[in-house]
Amino acid sequence: MYQCSSCGKKYRKMQGKCDICEEWNCIDEFNDSVTKPGSKVLEKDTKPASLSSIEVEDNIRYTSNISEIDRVLGGGFILGSSIVIGGEPGIGKSTLALQLGRLAKDNFKFMYFSGEESQKQVKLRAKRIGTNSDHMILSEDSTLEVIIRQIRHEKPSFVVIDSIHTIKSIEASSSIAGSVNQVTNCSNQLAELSRELNFTIILVGHITKEGIIAGPKVLEHLVDTILYFEKVDTGNLRILRTSKNRFGATDEIGIFNMTDKGLEEITDPTSLFISGKEEASIGSVISSTHEGTRPMLVEIQSLVSKPTISFGKRYSTGIENNRLNLLVAILEKYCDIKLSDKDIFISLTKGIKVKDTSNDLATAVAIYSSFKDLPISNANVFIGELGLSGEVKKIDNIEKRIKEVGRLGFKTCIVPKNSKNDIKGSTNGLDIKEIEHIREIKNLF
Ligand SMILES: Nc1ncnc2c1ncn2[C@@H]1O[C@H](COP(=O)(O)OP(=O)(O)OP(=O)(O)O)[C@@H](O)[C@H]1O
Ligand SMILES: [Mg+2]
Repeated sequence: MYQCSSCGKKYRKMQGKCDICEEWNCIDEFNDSVTKPGSKVLEKDTKPASLSSIEVEDNIRYTSNISEIDRVLGGGFILGSSIVIGGEPGIGKSTLALQLGRLAKDNFKFMYFSGEESQKQVKLRAKRIGTNSDHMILSEDSTLEVIIRQIRHEKPSFVVIDSIHTIKSIEASSSIAGSVNQVTNCSNQLAELSRELNFTIILVGHITKEGIIAGPKVLEHLVDTILYFEKVDTGNLRILRTSKNRFGATDEIGIFNMTDKGLEEITDPTSLFISGKEEASIGSVISSTHEGTRPMLVEIQSLVSKPTISFGKRYSTGIENNRLNLLVAILEKYCDIKLSDKDIFISLTKGIKVKDTSNDLATAVAIYSSFKDLPISNANVFIGELGLSGEVKKIDNIEKRIKEVGRLGFKTCIVPKNSKNDIKGSTNGLDIKEIEHIREIKNLF
C-alpha cells in the first residue's frame, strides 16, 4: 500500500500528488499488515454498565496555577485527558510545557520526555524560567516502548511529550518518526495509557505551513483537547486558542507575554489592542469584540486607496476576507459610495485576529471614514453586526461590553437599536447611542 504522509489517505498505486490534501511528493510506501493502531483498544474487555451506576468524582479538574491556561482549558486540567499543543517553530511550546513543571510536587510527579533537545538543554531553559523540582523527571528517550515502560514505572500525574513527531514505536510499520503511522500509533497508545493510569498528557505537535497540526487528521480525533499557540505581532505577545475541547468551550483565548523568565500571563487585556490615541483620526475605529467569556477592545484601521491594478483588491489581516467583501458590498449598496474600483486594506492593532461579527459596524465605519476622508473621534466605540439588508443587528453580551467600554473611560458607544434596554446599572457616564441601519452612517461623523 501507499499512504500520504500529510493526511493519511491510503492508495493502491503510487502517485505524485495526494487527491485529498493536494500536497505533492508526500506519498510513501507502507506495510499495512503490521500492528494496526487501535488494536489494543479492541482487545480490552470492559463490561458495559448502566449510566447511573458509573461513579465519578465531582471535582476532577485541577488548576495549572496559570489562570490564562485554566481559562482556555475550561477551568483547568483533567486527570486522564490528552492535550495536543501546536504552533510555529520557536513560538514557545516547550517553554509553556516546561513552565507547567511547576506543578510537580509530592504525590504529583511530572515527567518531561524531550525527543528534540537533550536533558542539559532542557535544564538550561528550566533554570532560566525558574522551574526546578525533585519531582520533575526529564528523559531524552524517544522510543515509545521505553517511554511507556518508564511511565508505568514512575506513575506520574503529568506527562509532556516534546514532541509527538520525534517519538517512534518499534512495532509500527514505518520506521521514520513523524510519519502518519508513527504519529497515529504513538499518540493512540499514549492517550490510551493516560486514561488507564489516570495522568494528564501533553503532546507537543508541529504544524504544517497551512497552520494545522502536522500529521494525520486522526490525531485530532484521538485527543481530548487541541491548543494552538500563535504570535500576535512581531513582538512578544502570544495567544493560546483551542480548536477542540471535549471538556470546555472552544472560543476562549489566553494571552501571554514571552519574557526571559518564560511566559507571563496578561490577565487584563481589554485595552491591549488599542493604541490609546486621544485625538480623532481617519480610518481608525475602536470596536468591542468578545473572545470567549471576555470582552476586549480592538482598533480597526482601514485604508481605501486608488487601485494598484485595474480593479480594486481587498487586503485584510485580522478580519476574514469574505466578511470584508460582504461589508464592502453592503456599504456600496446602502451608503452611496463606490468601492469596487478601490484597494481596501484592513488591519488590527498588534495584528490580532478576531472572529466576532460584532466588529462589522466598526469595520464599515473605518472604511467609510477613509473613503470620505472624514476623521472620527477615538473616544467613540462602535459595536454591531451588519445584516445583508444593511440593518444593524443586536449582539450578545451587550451589557458586559458596555461596562468594559465605560470602565476604560470612553465617551460614546454606538450600539444596535433596542440594545439600551438590555443595559442595566452604571456605565460610568458613557453616552449610549443607537443605530438601526447602516444608511445612518453619515450622521456618525
Ligand atoms: N533569554 C530569552 N529572553 C526572552 N525570550 C527568550 C529567551 N530565550 C528564548 N526566548 C523565547 O523563547 C522562544 C523559544 O521557545 P521554545 O523553545 O519554547 O519554542 P518551541 O515552540 O518549543 O520551538 P520548537 O518548535 O523549535 O521546539 C524563542 O523564540 C524566544 O521568543
Ligand atoms: Mg520545542
